[in-house]
Amino acid sequence: PVVAPHDRLGRPLRDLRISITDRCNFRCTYCMPRERFGREHAFLPRKSLLSFEEITHVARVFADLGVEKIRLTGGEPLLRKDVPRLVAMLAGIPGLELTLTTNAALLARQAQALKDAGLDRITVSLDSLNETVFHQMSDSDFSLQEVLQGIEAAEDAGFKPLKINMVVKRGVNDGEILDMVRHFRHSGHILRFIEYMDVGETNRWRMDEVLTAQEIIARIDAEYPLEAIGAHYPGEVAKRWRYRDGGGEIGIIASVTQTFCHECTRLRLSPEGKLFTCLFATQGHDLMTRVRGVNGKAGDSPEQLATWVSTIWADRGDRYSELRQTGLAPAGDKIEMSYIGG
Ligand code: GTP
Ligand code: 5AD
Ligand code: SF4
Ligand code: SF4
Repeated sequence: PVVAPHDRLGRPLRDLRISITDRCNFRCTYCMPRERFGREHAFLPRKSLLSFEEITHVARVFADLGVEKIRLTGGEPLLRKDVPRLVAMLAGIPGLELTLTTNAALLARQAQALKDAGLDRITVSLDSLNETVFHQMSDSDFSLQEVLQGIEAAEDAGFKPLKINMVVKRGVNDGEILDMVRHFRHSGHILRFIEYMDVGETNRWRMDEVLTAQEIIARIDAEYPLEAIGAHYPGEVAKRWRYRDGGGEIGIIASVTQTFCHECTRLRLSPEGKLFTCLFATQGHDLMTRVRGVNGKAGDSPEQLATWVSTIWADRGDRYSELRQTGLAPAGDKIEMSYIGG
């Protein structure tokens, strides 16, 4: 196997995030606002999705190219039928860490099967522990209780620590920060705060709705003194902090005010098999056709696929968040987060 070359900014390829469905059972206002993703919204038809076999085939090629971690995302990945089967298939590839990001609404009934299939870690998205605010953020029919049951089932199945991701929107759920802190301190889980981002074209992002990492830390530190701790691995997205009193660790993902493009080792694969070199990309590269073949023509061999991916990675120069910071963000319609995953 030949490891992929570094990209134009000297970054290696390490992570693959695979969105396995564009559907979601939530309508978070910052991600899939209902006025854009209503009843009439056309989601991808089943046959245009990469099959589990195709995903596994592709994952094997990526592992050979140097990918060490695969994250399954969506939309909501657990809406896809039989995710444990996919996990078991991917777990057969040596040297890969397997992780999943979910809103946990459907996690309770699947946690044990996911563990048994070989999933290594789970990250749960949860924006509030107050039922009213939870509904304001997620705009779903699910109750907060179901999410908490999902978290509990994951603990029972042996997923510990979990990472809990909270997107903070000023004026909507920033009042929930300390409540979340109190709930998850001493739980062994890692609560992470995410600055609200301008992903996609539908959430009508405004900078004044971003509560900055600095403000988030200051609010927590005032009540529960914090100290910074070092990264687990180069390119870790979340900056780590710990409570000085031993209450555990938290993380801050400051993708707006403290950008991390210079270390970004992530490639994203959409449900219909397009490769994206940045969360803020406007266009993908068609991998589906290469995998499946077209008009009776056979698909690529693993070697051909590896060469093609290497070329794309070598040519990669994306650094959207850094450019946004300097006011030079490229124009063009960005893909939606629900399509490409977090
Ligand atoms: P672990 O450290 O392995 O848990 O992975 P991670 O931090 O990449 O996990 P996760 O998927 O939970 O990422 C957390 C959030 O950070 C995502 O949901 C996004 O909101 C944000 N994020 C992740 N990767 C990127 C990225 O490449 N660019 C930007 N701008 N934001 C990202
Ligand atoms: N800004 C920040 N994070 C977002 N996510 C989705 N949309 C946004 C946004 N606009 C996060 C979710 C979840 C992950 C999949 O992405 O909260 O944790
Ligand atoms: Fe919310 Fe995640 Fe669904 Fe987007 S994909 S609407 S962030 S639960
Ligand atoms: Fe990576 Fe693009 Fe996010 Fe920068 S903006 S960290 S290049 S995905």
